[in-house]
Amino acid sequence: MSDLEKINSIFNAKIDSVKSKDELQNLKTDFFGKNGQITNQFKNLGSLSAEDKKEFASRLNKLKDSLSKQIENKNLEIETQEINEKLKNEKIDVTLPIRSYRQGKIHPVSQVIDEISSIFSEIGFSVAEGPDVETEYNNFTALNTPEDHPARDMHDTFYLDKDKRLLLRTHTSPVQIRTMLNEKPPFKIIVPGRTYRSDSDQTHSPMFHQLEGLHIDKNITMSHLKGCLDYFIKEFFEVKNVKMRFRPSHFPFTEPSAEVDIGYRLENDKIVIGEGDKWLEILGCGMVHPNVLKNVKVDTKKYQGYAFGIGIDRLAMLKYGINDLRAFFETDYRWLSHFGFDPLDVPTNYRGLSK
Ligand code: DAH
Repeated sequence: MSDLEKINSIFNAKIDSVKSKDELQNLKTDFFGKNGQITNQFKNLGSLSAEDKKEFASRLNKLKDSLSKQIENKNLEIETQEINEKLKNEKIDVTLPIRSYRQGKIHPVSQVIDEISSIFSEIGFSVAEGPDVETEYNNFTALNTPEDHPARDMHDTFYLDKDKRLLLRTHTSPVQIRTMLNEKPPFKIIVPGRTYRSDSDQTHSPMFHQLEGLHIDKNITMSHLKGCLDYFIKEFFEVKNVKMRFRPSHFPFTEPSAEVDIGYRLENDKIVIGEGDKWLEILGCGMVHPNVLKNVKVDTKKYQGYAFGIGIDRLAMLKYGINDLRAFFETDYRWLSHFGFDPLDVPTNYRGLSK
């Protein structure tokens, strides 16, 4: 038997008993490693005559190819076997009980902001936003609020610097200014957001939420304002009729100004919105003051419109029967699991922002 035939038969005897990747690796080293049997045969080539060399090299190469191929096949065989083995052992036990998990809840304020945005988007309002840190100019001056107005008092406003140039916005109204300065009329926006005032009791929190509305176009009148609010209140509280009254009021940035009350009655200590002989104040509104429009360079001969400001937290409290505002912001998980909304099981009237 020639050397090459011997190598072949040794290899054949060994490869049959290989069962693992490690064993295969050892076999590979035996034949193809630095001192492997095949490697050594290649080293011998140099000592042969030119003619023998050609013939021997061709046989050696054939043998090398054949052994390599067998190693490759063996490797595949072992891998397949390993996978089958794994699959056999990894059966899923469908009878096991599920693991318990805690699902988060949507905060009532987020829920109500989504509901309100959805209601207004159906009549053409888009959502605008502004920063919590505002300039004194946007928050007061541009909104026609004179220097000595009580709203500027230290007690109400959180000023952020000695010169009182920067503050935490006390209302969402400065976004009216930002929007009108940056865009061209007509404007039809709502602005939900956080607002801040130095005030804290059962119905006041130093941080609370407002929703601003602004509609400026040609020929906008107070009846548009009335129609818009009537639609919103009915949709939001899901009632067919709602008693609404406009009470004369004063805001520096509107003229005339009004506060809006809606009718309600108590039934087993619960508030029923719409009918009844009691009144609930829910928002401030009015026709945007010409001085405000002049401050943002809107032509008052062509354009006019209305604005309103609603307390979002108060609406959430009324709609969902929550009576302490402070609890909204105490981040108590028990409170949230009671009053929060299941993200996968939203109320039937909820239409979602995407609609
Ligand atoms: N910014 C007012 C406040 O915080 C609410 C308000 C009243 C907003 C009348 C308006 C408005 O846009 O027209 O008390």
